Amino acid sequence: MNKLQVLLIAAIACTIGSTLYLLNKSSSDVQESALTFPYDENLAESLAGFSMASYCKASKIQNWSCGTPCSKNPQGIQDVYIMKNKTMNSVGYLAYSPANDAIVVVFRGTVPWLIKNWISDINTVKTKYPRCQKCYVHLGFFNAFKELQDQILTEFPKLKAKYPTSKVFVTGHSLGAAISTHAVPVIYELNGNKPIDAFYNFGSPRVGDENYHQWFDSQNFTLQYGRVNHRADPVPHLPPNYSPFIFTHIDHEVFYSTFKKPYKQCIETESLECADGIKIPLDIADHLSYFGWDWATNILACQ
Ligand SMILES: *[C@@H]1O[C@H](CO)[C@@H](O)[C@H](O)[C@H]1NC(C)=O
Ligand SMILES: *[C@@H]1O[C@H](CO)[C@@H](O)[C@H](O)[C@H]1NC(C)=O
Ligand SMILES: *[C@@H]1O[C@H](CO)[C@@H](O)[C@H](O)[C@H]1NC(C)=O
Ligand SMILES: *[C@@H]1O[C@H](CO)[C@@H](O)[C@H](O)[C@H]1NC(C)=O
Repeated sequence: MNKLQVLLIAAIACTIGSTLYLLNKSSSDVQESALTFPYDENLAESLAGFSMASYCKASKIQNWSCGTPCSKNPQGIQDVYIMKNKTMNSVGYLAYSPANDAIVVVFRGTVPWLIKNWISDINTVKTKYPRCQKCYVHLGFFNAFKELQDQILTEFPKLKAKYPTSKVFVTGHSLGAAISTHAVPVIYELNGNKPIDAFYNFGSPRVGDENYHQWFDSQNFTLQYGRVNHRADPVPHLPPNYSPFIFTHIDHEVFYSTFKKPYKQCIETESLECADGIKIPLDIADHLSYFGWDWATNILACQ
C-alpha cells in the first residue's frame, strides 16, 4: 500500500465512521421527535360525543334526549345553554357534565348534508388576529367564532360561578373545531388564566398562519390538547399549507388510519407521519366517521 492508498482508506473509514455516527444521531433525533404528548383517548371519545350532539336539535340537547349522540355520554349534562347566532348560523352549547365534573364548551360545524358545499367553499382569506402581533387567521372561521363570543363571555362565568372547582373541556368538530380553537384563549382568560383541562377537536381545518401556530403553542392554554384526524378526511388539509397561502395547523396531531388500530401522535404540526402524509385526502366519509360512528345518520336522526 502506498501513502495515497492509506490516506484513501483512512478517508473512507472516516466517512463510514461519521455516517454511522450520524445514523446514531439521527436515530436518537427520531426518538426525540417521536416524543408524545398527553392524549386521553377515552376523554377524546367522550368529547367527540359531545361534539356530535351539538348537531342535534336544541331542545334535544337541552334535555339530553338526542339518541345515539347523547348516548355517548349517557350520564348527560345539566345547566345547558345553547349558543346560536343567525348571521352565519354558528351554534354551540355550554353545560356542566357531572360524570366528568367539568364545564364543557362545544361548537358545531356545518351539518352533514351541507358539508360538501362548505368544503368546496373554504376560501383562503386571512385577517389580522388581534391577540398576537403579526398573526393572521382565516377570516371566515374567525367571524364564525366572533358570532358566539359574546355568549361565551356572558354564559361561561355563570357556569364557573356555579361550579368553581370543576374542570373545563373545550371541543368541536369540523368548522366547530376551528371555532373551538378560537374559543380557547377566551375561555382560558374567563377561567382566571388557569389552563383548560382538555381541548380535543376533530377534523379541524387550518385556523391560522405560521405565526399564529407559534403563538398558540407557546401559550400553555391547556393541560392536554390534540387535533384528532381521520385517514383521508379532506378538511384538515384546508385551507392549504402550500405557498402562497401557507396556513399552518397548531401542534399535537393525533392521527387515526382506522379506529380499530392504534393512533399516531405527531407532536409538531404538518408532519408527514400524520394526515399530511396522505396523498389523496378526498374522502368526506372519513370526515363523518370519527371514532367509527356514522355521524351523518346519527345527526339526521336527532333533528
Ligand atoms: C451508536 O450508539 C450505540 C449505543 O448508544 C453505541 O454503542 C455505538 O458505539 C454508537 N456507534 C457509533 C458509530 O457512534
Ligand atoms: C325532551 O325533549 C323531547 C323533544 O323535545 C321531548 O319529546 C321529551 O318529552 C323531553 N323530555 C323531558 C324529560 O323533558
Ligand atoms: C351575532 O354575531 C354578530 C356578528 O359577530 C354580533 O355582532 C352579534 O352581537 C351576535 N349576536 C349575539 C346575540 O351574540
Ligand atoms: C409555557 O410553559 C413553558 C414551559 O413551562 C414556559 O417556558 C413558557 O414561558 C410558558 N409560556 C407562557 C406564555 O407562559
